[in-house]
Amino acid sequence: MFNEKWQKKLDLQKENGLYRNPVFIEKRTGKTTTINDREVVNFSSNDYLGIATLTDLKLSASKNFLKYGTSSSSSRLVSANYSAINEAERRFADFFGYEEALFFPSGFQCNQGLVSSILEPEDIAIFDKHLHASSVKGLVLSKGEFTGYKHNSMSHLEKKCIQHKEKFKAVLTESLFSMDGDLLDVNEFKKLKDKYSFLSVIDEAHSFGALGEGGRGIARDAADIAVGTFGKALGFFGAFVLMPSILKEYLLNFSSQQIYTTTLPEAHAATAMEILDIVEKAEDRRSHLKEMSEYMKNELKNLNLKVLGEAHIISPEIGPEKLSAKISKKLLSHGYFVLPARYPTVPMGKSILRISMTALHEKSDIDGFVDALKKVMSEN
Ligand SMILES: Cc1ncc(COP(=O)(O)O)c(C=O)c1O
Repeated sequence: MFNEKWQKKLDLQKENGLYRNPVFIEKRTGKTTTINDREVVNFSSNDYLGIATLTDLKLSASKNFLKYGTSSSSSRLVSANYSAINEAERRFADFFGYEEALFFPSGFQCNQGLVSSILEPEDIAIFDKHLHASSVKGLVLSKGEFTGYKHNSMSHLEKKCIQHKEKFKAVLTESLFSMDGDLLDVNEFKKLKDKYSFLSVIDEAHSFGALGEGGRGIARDAADIAVGTFGKALGFFGAFVLMPSILKEYLLNFSSQQIYTTTLPEAHAATAMEILDIVEKAEDRRSHLKEMSEYMKNELKNLNLKVLGEAHIISPEIGPEKLSAKISKKLLSHGYFVLPARYPTVPMGKSILRISMTALHEKSDIDGFVDALKKVMSEN
């Protein structure tokens, strides 16, 4: 009975070009990955600084697991409030310039746990319509009201602020958007924040490590609360929220996604502190990433494609879902791994190729990729 219903929905996904079938990855080495016995250049990794496969980092993570053990074996509120984790959270708060930090097992859980717990029924959240699914799911679970504003439109955000003048407002956005690759206008956002006194929650998942001074992101001036993930430029796993101290106390009391889950192990915390040192000193990697990203964007524009993206996430718009899937498949046969982003990740009919640049890419990788894309596009 259920099997039939599930099959029907899966068949419909296939008909609409929306079916997901994750590619089987055999091996990963820096910027390349091995698929079907073939080493291909990976343009789908969020390891923006290219540190996730560094031997030194792998060695220190192993050392830390050897020292502390493999699991925290409990939730934070039971027996896992370890000093190593508290020390790491202190370091993260200080590094990014916030009063407090709190680690979560993943960015998805972190956003969901944060957003779902901070609003009461009389409050309202105003969110950018391209906000990540993890925060949107948090809104759905929250007790508050919520309403979206047009993607990155500060004038529409202002309208919403005026419309809901009387309420306690939280505004939710990202500093570098995960799919469009565009940046928040931090100055304009800050002006609105000052004018309408809202609480600002900014997801810096794609900025931390890769953008800003020492990799500190770009939105500190405008954020009351920021979210970061380890799984992207920080080359690790898990996530953290940066915030005023009262909110840490609040989340430890009211966030189910923090309370009812096994805490990340102490070895994670110890490694996280070492990662901060790597990230702070990664200026060369950040400038190479910027240079390669600009090069990629310009080369793609020469193909007469509409190219979104203002930093290291670059998204040529393809349009029809089936076409982007086909192009991605063909690119793989040319030695390049890049995936399409399709509905519901992006709006229907506006599928993109989501290109993630890393500090490991060189001009020759980009030239080869652009040539292959040109060839593939001409065949369609
Ligand atoms: C903007 C944004 N926030 C949060 C997340 C979730 O982070 P994690 O992968 O650590 O669950 C992602 C993607 O993974 C993201 O793109």
